[in-house]
Amino acid sequence: MMEETYSQQLLNDAASLTVKALSPASGSAGWSCPSNIALIKYWGKKPVQIPMNPSLSMTLDEARTFTRVDYTFDPAQTDPAFSFSFEGRQAPAFSQRIEGYLKFITPYLPLLAHTSLQIESRNTFPHSSGIASSASAMGALALCLLDIEQTITGTAHPEEFMRKASFLARLGSGSASRSLFPQFSLWGKSEGWTGSSDEFAVSFSGFHPSFGNLRDTILIVEAGAKKVSSSAGHGLMEKNPYAPVRFEQARVNLGEIRNALESGDWPLFLEIMEMEALALHAMMLTGKPGYLLMQPGTLSIIQKIRAFRKETGKRLGFTLDAGANVHLIFSGNDSDRVNAFISSELLPHCENGRAISDRMGDGPQRF
Ligand code: PMV
Repeated sequence: MMEETYSQQLLNDAASLTVKALSPASGSAGWSCPSNIALIKYWGKKPVQIPMNPSLSMTLDEARTFTRVDYTFDPAQTDPAFSFSFEGRQAPAFSQRIEGYLKFITPYLPLLAHTSLQIESRNTFPHSSGIASSASAMGALALCLLDIEQTITGTAHPEEFMRKASFLARLGSGSASRSLFPQFSLWGKSEGWTGSSDEFAVSFSGFHPSFGNLRDTILIVEAGAKKVSSSAGHGLMEKNPYAPVRFEQARVNLGEIRNALESGDWPLFLEIMEMEALALHAMMLTGKPGYLLMQPGTLSIIQKIRAFRKETGKRLGFTLDAGANVHLIFSGNDSDRVNAFISSELLPHCENGRAISDRMGDGPQRF
């Protein structure tokens, strides 16, 4: 017999809910959710939002989306409605995405069909800064919507809450599934990781204490909007001739970085993290069309990071997202020395000398 998927389980739960038996209600939910940076990259997916390889991320702390949703629920209402404002203004492009998202997840949250929602959102970081805003935004929205559903039905399942929120966030943006957990998250079914799934992320907490105070300083080489959307990028992997090798490489790298994280092997951690960043860009370079998202400043920064590491033996390395900006990952124990290096050597390569300092964080918070 085929094992029931998590998605099927949620649909069965939704089908057994008697909406008419519920009383009209109104209220609000507020959640902040951090962004995350992938160390093992997710690049390539199949329907519906299923990753072609597992990914592992570090949850950020400061870079967050705050979302508040005011709602009214009436079982007799059959015409769902929502309004959306971002940083106090109407945002038509985002509204369209949210409209599609709400329709998409209603089978899993059936009360949405009888609800009017007023959604207000703001980010603590600038747009187009190289921080994945879809991860924090979809994470925060999923948390609010699930919170509302559970309040109305009076069925709180604290142990299940983050898993379902991660599932719902994934349907908005794959990488958002990983933003729901403290420190490190794994998304994607992986051999040897009990409980791992393609449908939601899980927390990874068995890391060596030397990784307990990781920093991420995002060096803004280029502040413009993305030149390739994630969905276009994932789509290009379908025909990339290197894709099968890449998916296998990610699995091997996941095992290696896990060993490094568990044993405190910094050189191995840095080697795999940097290999993953460059592999992501290699996939973009070799797609059709190909994208060269790194800028001269990106390469200068990478060279300087490697030279500084060789010279000082400090624990620092880089990773990249789908853009020119560089995430400098380092141990908080070396903050003074590394921050001095950033100011003197790296900021000159940044647009208007800009960088954003963040660190590993504890995950979402209710507010
Ligand atoms: O979640 P998406 O569909 O925006 O894809 C994110 C892809 C990368 O940020 C490039 C890598 C990752 O794993 O976060």
